[in-house]
Amino acid sequence: LCDFTVLGFESSCDETGVALVRADAAGQVPRLLSHALHSQVAMHQAYGGVVPELASRDHIRRVLPLTDAVLAESGRSLDAVDVIAYTRGPGLAGALLVGAGVACSMGAALGIPVLGVHHLEGHLLSPFLSADPPEFPFVALLVSGGHTQLMRVDGVGRYAMLGETIDDAAGEAFDKSAKLMGLGYPGGPALSKLAEQGDPKAFALPRPLLRSGNLDFSFAGLKTAVLTQARKLGDELEARKADLAASTEAAIVDVLLKKSLAALELTGLDRLVVAGGVGANRLLRVQLNAECRRRGVRVHYPELHLCTDNGAMIAMAAAMRMASGAAEPSKRYAFDVRPR
Ligand code: KG4
Ligand code: ZN
Repeated sequence: LCDFTVLGFESSCDETGVALVRADAAGQVPRLLSHALHSQVAMHQAYGGVVPELASRDHIRRVLPLTDAVLAESGRSLDAVDVIAYTRGPGLAGALLVGAGVACSMGAALGIPVLGVHHLEGHLLSPFLSADPPEFPFVALLVSGGHTQLMRVDGVGRYAMLGETIDDAAGEAFDKSAKLMGLGYPGGPALSKLAEQGDPKAFALPRPLLRSGNLDFSFAGLKTAVLTQARKLGDELEARKADLAASTEAAIVDVLLKKSLAALELTGLDRLVVAGGVGANRLLRVQLNAECRRRGVRVHYPELHLCTDNGAMIAMAAAMRMASGAAEPSKRYAFDVRPR
């Protein structure tokens, strides 16, 4: 199979994403035909975080209108769809069930096979949606709200874990620190924006596991240190918030940078792919770009708007898995989600 069109659904958390990806020929990177996204951020903001029940209900409201929009934009009808892909997990169970339910019922009604995709594989392969896609093999730094991993990637489905977080994820470290500074949700972008006006050297925050000798991460201690610092500041916190934000961001980015460089050294590879929501962080990009240029390492990112959750990465991962023979879609319509 080397000539097919995938309709993909993402609904694992607080973004409803739908996309059409087309594989034209063997050996060619599949291309994005169209995609549509609805972010629930504004809806969850009032609660300071994602409310799972509200997320599921909103996915239900949005998914079919988004599908119509994607088909209209591509100038195609459902007749042109050969495979339907959906995020199988990890994510919120009720939210995942919306995408899986729509994919499987649409597939069953129209006789189109379906394929469940791992959300992280979607992030991992999202740089292939950009104009200058990476080539295998490469080291991947996967940094999202739920995961922090370094992997050696030799091809589609050929992933070796080099290191991962033993507690909080990098995105969680951003979000939790932002929350206790009163910056709201989602905290990563807000903290990063405030940090631009602060002094990254104002507070000495820990760089957990930086010298652990392996490629694992730990961010729980950093969050505690930020909390301790915020309490110590007391009434002064408001005036020093930008400094604390800048110091927090510097600590997180420093660890991600040093461990990524160590992974490149260990594997001897000269290509790095950064994916997941934290990959949108400007300081991380600036520092990685500078250090990698010095070492002759090429860095690939997804386009900024495809760093956080979207349907394009799910349709793309399905297309690449099928094109490489790593997975085959099925007409069993199993409707299986894997929240964890
Ligand atoms: O990949 P993603 O959309 O969702 C998960 O699969 O988790 O990542 C969301 C995470 C959140 O923790 C968010 O705060 C973080 O990515 N994030 C950022 C930035 N943009 C998003 N963190 C730091 N700086 C940013 N610019
Ligand atoms: Zn994600």
